[in-house]
Amino acid sequence: MEASKIISAPWDRLRDTTLLRTRNLIGGEWCSASDGGEHAVLNPSSQQVLAKVPASSEEDARRAVQAAHDAGKEWAELTSKARASVLRRWHDLILQHRDDLGLILAAEQGKPLAESVGEVVYGAGFVEWFAEEGKRVYGDVIPPHAKDKRIVVVKQPVGVAALITPWNFPSAMITRKVGPALAAGCTVVLKPAEDTPLSALALGELALRAGVPPGVFNIVTTAQPASVGGVFTSDPLVRKLSFTGSTRVGKMLMAQCAGTVKRVSLELGGNAAFIVFDDADLDAAIAGLMACKFRNTGQTCISANRILIQDGIFDAFSKRLVEAVRSLAVGDPLADGSQQGPLINEAAFLKVNRLVNDALARGADALEGASVHDRGGWFYQPTVLANVPSDATICSEEIFGPVAVLERFSTEADVVARANNSPYGLAGYFYSRDVGRCWRVAEALEVGIVGVNEGSISTELAPFGGVKESGIGREGSKYGIDDYLETKYMCFGGVA
Ligand code: SIN
Repeated sequence: MEASKIISAPWDRLRDTTLLRTRNLIGGEWCSASDGGEHAVLNPSSQQVLAKVPASSEEDARRAVQAAHDAGKEWAELTSKARASVLRRWHDLILQHRDDLGLILAAEQGKPLAESVGEVVYGAGFVEWFAEEGKRVYGDVIPPHAKDKRIVVVKQPVGVAALITPWNFPSAMITRKVGPALAAGCTVVLKPAEDTPLSALALGELALRAGVPPGVFNIVTTAQPASVGGVFTSDPLVRKLSFTGSTRVGKMLMAQCAGTVKRVSLELGGNAAFIVFDDADLDAAIAGLMACKFRNTGQTCISANRILIQDGIFDAFSKRLVEAVRSLAVGDPLADGSQQGPLINEAAFLKVNRLVNDALARGADALEGASVHDRGGWFYQPTVLANVPSDATICSEEIFGPVAVLERFSTEADVVARANNSPYGLAGYFYSRDVGRCWRVAEALEVGIVGVNEGSISTELAPFGGVKESGIGREGSKYGIDDYLETKYMCFGGVA
């Protein structure tokens, strides 16, 4: 199905055009790159230039780090209640401007408009949650080991936090990091993804309007992520790095942070198994899979990468899945009714094309799609593949596209072993109506997040993060603020 209207110049649809910021935010000022360099932000649907933003260098990154450092003491000394009221105002402004923020997000990222506004609202939830959670950063009083001593534990902000965020959630992955950092009393420098800086800058504008003081939230855009990232990982003023992105880059950043022993949080790649047992509610499983697999056109770290269906229901399940996939509306993200947009850039498009072609060349069956979309550009057909040989690259690489790969299995033991046979451990899903099996499999899956009869697991209320090579640390929930806090032990002696 094709959503009709193509819109190539979206900015005249903004109600508040001052949200469209195209400069760095450093020390509360909007500024160009020190050498005047710029890079273009493309609309992935039309490939037209949407805006030009600073192509910042190491020098700009250092200035931003210094600004964050200079603002740190005053921000940390505020009461958590005072910080909470600033964050609360930021949250309210994000919601008030959700349509404009959604439009900016859809234009630069390619996520259909309704889904983009949904991401903005999801992201605002992290700001609201952490505004409150900052008030509950409790310490401890520990029974002492000697009569004249007292042991007290307090939590303090880590200091300057450097944040590197991905293009697939240009708004929510920022608020998921900035929210807890600011609530904890840290100041931040943010490098948004090269493809999607405009959502970040719009959030920065609203943060200023909310009363976030100059230097507390700094944003540096760049086309040279390695240079800016290099400053973030080596500058001794930075005490914490939080990164969401690929496992390959996460490993490099972690190694670089070793030089100054920075705290690191990493939310990296996944290879989620989505398992459907014979006894599952098939309607629920299809709905869950569609939500999980085709959210953001398959470009999420928690997307179902390997779909394992038990023998007894394989044929019925695949038939129904093909019908559901065929009904997806592929179209311009800014047109009403679009459900699937383009892939983010040429490299992403070529990768999906390569993985599918490799699977087909090795004998996989194309049940639906399996080719570039008629719209051209970076659009790919929603696809279902079956009988994919296990040596096909698509079975081990993260697909990051609208391609569902179906595999068969016979027994619970076999499917759990196959699901766990991966260096990644971010999310896993399964459907079954057997309560005993639900506990067994949920406990056995080697992942940080399990969807049991559920394909949509993202919320600010729950801890998001992975095990194995999928990362370190948790974002969201009462656990998410810990990553921005140090634990200090005070021993009071001479207490008579
Ligand atoms: C991700 O794909 O990195 C995040 C997805 C989410 O927050 O739901």
